[in-house]
Amino acid sequence: MNKKKYYKIITYGCQMNENDSEKLAGMLNILGYSPIEDEEKADIVIFNTCSVRENADVKVFGNLGHFKPLKKRNPNMILAVCGCMMQQQEIVNKIMDKYPQVDLVFGTHNLHKFPELLANAQQSPRIVVDVWEEGGEIVEALPIERKYEHKAYVTIMYGCNNFCSYCIVPYTRGRERSRRPEQIVQEITKLAQEGCKEITLLGQNVNSYGKSLEEDITFADLLRRLNNIEGIERIRFMTSHPKDLSDDLIAAMKECDKVCEHLHLPFQAGNNKILKIMNRRYTKESYLNLINKIKDAIPGIALTTDIIVGFPGETDEDFEDTLDIVREVKFDSAFTFLYSVREGTPAAKMENQIPDEIKHKRFQKLLDLQHQISAEENKLLEGTIAEVFVEGVSKNDTEKMSGRTRTNKLVNFIGKKDSIGELVQIKITQGQTWSLNGVQIGYDDKE
Ligand code: SAH
Ligand code: SF4
Ligand code: F3S
Repeated sequence: MNKKKYYKIITYGCQMNENDSEKLAGMLNILGYSPIEDEEKADIVIFNTCSVRENADVKVFGNLGHFKPLKKRNPNMILAVCGCMMQQQEIVNKIMDKYPQVDLVFGTHNLHKFPELLANAQQSPRIVVDVWEEGGEIVEALPIERKYEHKAYVTIMYGCNNFCSYCIVPYTRGRERSRRPEQIVQEITKLAQEGCKEITLLGQNVNSYGKSLEEDITFADLLRRLNNIEGIERIRFMTSHPKDLSDDLIAAMKECDKVCEHLHLPFQAGNNKILKIMNRRYTKESYLNLINKIKDAIPGIALTTDIIVGFPGETDEDFEDTLDIVREVKFDSAFTFLYSVREGTPAAKMENQIPDEIKHKRFQKLLDLQHQISAEENKLLEGTIAEVFVEGVSKNDTEKMSGRTRTNKLVNFIGKKDSIGELVQIKITQGQTWSLNGVQIGYDDKE
């Protein structure tokens, strides 16, 4: 009998990368490989990398370094590196020069070629490198091994055309391309038949979905179509760009009962001068108007955002505009980032880069404010009843279960143990900064 073969995929970055890793896992399964936790025992190890901020790069190189002795002990192991970092020529050059333990390098546009590339790498004594500069036609129906049974990511578009001046993504993911709606409906219908109840639609800017298609279809139209798929209970999406969020999308969110009351709407910075040099194409005022329109249309909607601190030229006064938006909108939570220089982007060449010390000071101020707001917002929910989609046993207390509200808040609750994948009603007993505590309605702990 043949020896069993194993793989391990280490994923960095966004949900798009996680979804790509699920496709790599699907291809490896067909090739007869099984997943394994312990990389010492793996025949193939893949790093799916992210280049959005500098610390992502640093982590990958550190980890690749750890594989040098492992590769010495097990020379037959294939070490592959793919993802966004590989779309940058200087990174590939560094790997070829300094990391002889790597056997295979490929990029974001030729993921579907992985089985062929792997076979080449297994036969070649030298490193195999294949990175495409641009994405061609979208390749549909790749095998996929999904991480979760009841919820799934579905990529609806690839790439980005926005070129925010700080961001590397348009260079690593290429131009914007939307999948055909029939393909998306087909994938989600199949998922529903297999028991999936919650889907998250992915794209760098889902609000411009459809623009690259011949067919006349918008993201709002797509949501209306997906809302009809039987078996799906919840529809989420990310990310939205404020400049492209239409009134029709707000109407569709309101109309479609499966579309959850949560919107992730990054504003990045509050000051109009900074927004302009970031090339974001909206203003503090237009962002706040948009938020008011959304709050009016969908009461109780949860709002989350991304914020960058210390963009080149940001003064203390400019930063106050960021804090203003945070205070006024009262986001449920926010992902906050220190501006990180990305070579090849326009912002990297800008003067007035902000010293680390100032960046950190502002960052801490922002964090303190947001934590206080998150705690206050969650406290307001105490005593209310929420529909929770049960995802598993709670990570911090194995006596409890955990899941998410439609507004995407994490709830740890006392309740039935065999309810994974079910929607249950939970009474919220405590609101904290990061999560809520609760008790399942009708639950008797002697059950
Ligand atoms: N397409 C999405 C998100 C892309 S990257 C959007 O437009 O919202 C996720 C987040 O990383 C961004 O929203 C931004 O806040 C942050 N980010 C991107 N480039 C960055 C950089 N150079 N430095 C710090 N944060 C960055
Ligand atoms: Fe980057 Fe801007 Fe595109 Fe988002 S919209 S991926 S921040 S360029
Ligand atoms: Fe990172 Fe690429 Fe996603 S740069 S954030 S993995 S699109």
